[in-house]
Amino acid sequence: MAEKKTDDARRRFMKRATFGIGGIMGAVTAIPLVKYFLHPVGSPVVSTPDAPIDIAAESDIVAGAAPVRLPIIANGVRDAWNRADNVAVGSCWVSKSETGEITAFTSVCPHLGCSVSYSDKNEDFRCPCHNSAFALDGKKKDNGPAKRGLDPLKVTVEEGRVKVTYQRFRNDISEREPV
Ligand code: FES
Repeated sequence: MAEKKTDDARRRFMKRATFGIGGIMGAVTAIPLVKYFLHPVGSPVVSTPDAPIDIAAESDIVAGAAPVRLPIIANGVRDAWNRADNVAVGSCWVSKSETGEITAFTSVCPHLGCSVSYSDKNEDFRCPCHNSAFALDGKKKDNGPAKRGLDPLKVTVEEGRVKVTYQRFRNDISEREPV
């Protein structure tokens, strides 16, 4: 009788141990599978290079001339699924002062993101969407709903090449907040 009880207890123990070990092994195997099927949940959706992007030869930007619009073409842009080379991530207005200082403003209007143009007539930047205007130094003028001036991009000059660090900023707020 006592022997039967011991056998039952052993069987119950073995059953529980089998279920326990099986459950742990199943969970360990399932984690990578779940991750695989959920990919790219939790991954950054789009990334642009943080490194400065070459936009022009320094000699091509004439001191004291009107600003020129230049495309910003990144070598590598990655989203959750793909990587693409030579992608136009934006554009900027570039000018060089008489003293040789180069400035660049993103062409994205800080109001709602339309593309800002240069006005020869007014010698300033104008947004065609809601008429915001910006001085050559990027400061907001009185007209239009934009809450801040144009967003400057960091400029570096290396071995005769002008490079900008591309950056996007949150629209329609008075502070400059990178996104
Ligand atoms: S988007 Fe430029 S003024 Fe509205």
